[in-house]
Amino acid sequence: MVAGVFTRVAGGYDRLNRILSLGLDVIWRRRALARLEHACGGGLGSILDLATGTADFAIEAARRFPAASVTGIDLTPAMLDIGRRKVGDAGLSGRISLREGNATALPFMECSFDAVLCAFGFRNFPDIPASLAEAARILKDGGRLAVLEFFRPRYALLGAFTAGWLRCLSALFAPRVAADYAYLRASIANTCSAEEFVATAREVGLATERTEIFLPACSCLLLRKCGKM
Ligand SMILES: C[S@@+](CC[C@H](N)C(=O)[O-])C[C@H]1O[C@@H](n2cnc3c(N)ncnc32)[C@H](O)[C@@H]1O
Repeated sequence: MVAGVFTRVAGGYDRLNRILSLGLDVIWRRRALARLEHACGGGLGSILDLATGTADFAIEAARRFPAASVTGIDLTPAMLDIGRRKVGDAGLSGRISLREGNATALPFMECSFDAVLCAFGFRNFPDIPASLAEAARILKDGGRLAVLEFFRPRYALLGAFTAGWLRCLSALFAPRVAADYAYLRASIANTCSAEEFVATAREVGLATERTEIFLPACSCLLLRKCGKM
């Protein structure tokens, strides 16, 4: 079902993202990577971008960490096709590889990556604890997980405002896929809170180093693999 939604919205995904976030999503990804660089220095060698979609986070990461090779993984081939075009246009095909795969069963060995990124992916995953456990498994010890997500808002008013905003703008700018954007709205209301996410992460050995809200409503979390607790 989720792959069907993203197959249908793929063609207009980037444009609608910019409209719905008023361009802030670009800034949020850059700020999250700045936090990651601050935490672990610029010398990352291997980065995985979970739910890479059209590869915006992967491309930004390759630019910020010039020594890193970046792998992006996603469930939806139509999103990856657009991502591959963008990676080629950015001249980064030699450093970014994109492949199909499921965040709940990652096709990588234990301790393979220095950092894992995930922007607006977790709330779509069918099993968040399993995806967190997979991220922890494939991270090297001391490696970081950087997450951007719209978790379930703590305040009902903020939730209602966000839902109304998304409903109006997606109806205006993407009427043909209005039902798919209804799913995306519902996914915010139905996902876990940031506090629940952090508690689940701790159970699989990911300790939270930093939590921040990028205004108006995007959570940025930085977690570190520190073994089972
Ligand atoms: C809202 S988009 C985010 C894309 C990108 N990270 C960004 O910053 O724009 C969510 C993405 O998650 C992917 N996705 C959903 N469930 C997944 C899963 N179980 N495993 C891997 N990717 C998944 C979708 O195909 C979609 O591309």
